[in-house]
Amino acid sequence: MKTLLTIVLLTLSLWAKGEGPSLYHSCKFCHGLKAEKTYAQKVPSIKKLDESDLVAILTAYKKGELDNYGYGAIMKMQMQNIPDNLIPTLAKHIKELK
Ligand code: HEC
Repeated sequence: MKTLLTIVLLTLSLWAKGEGPSLYHSCKFCHGLKAEKTYAQKVPSIKKLDESDLVAILTAYKKGELDNYGYGAIMKMQMQNIPDNLIPTLAKHIKELK
């Protein structure tokens, strides 16, 4: 019983640790490994945004309410795979990328 609990806890902590990177995985292609890239010479590095701004922006993209550079539809599509409750985790991870 104790062993089982240890295994469960270990798996959970590994999963929690891996969450940020796996959430950001699909974003790398356009925004860069460290969120440093300028996309299509238009969209500035997303690293410069505050964590709370990131949450607000990503939530708005998901709802299809944001279109800052004429590519809002691309970001709406990207955000469909990210559950609402994990958007803060994703934002935190972006700020922690080095
Ligand atoms: C196919 C390329 C592509 C992928 C993949 C992508 N993005 Fe974007 N991202 C864009 C484009 C294009 C814009 C500009 C959208 C607009 O016109 O408002 C953008 C805008 C943003 C912005 C706002 C930038 C600003 O200055 O306002 C954030 C934050 C962002 N993306 C985060 C993400 C995150 C997080 C992911 C992964 C879940 C992701 N993006 C995946 C292309 C992409």
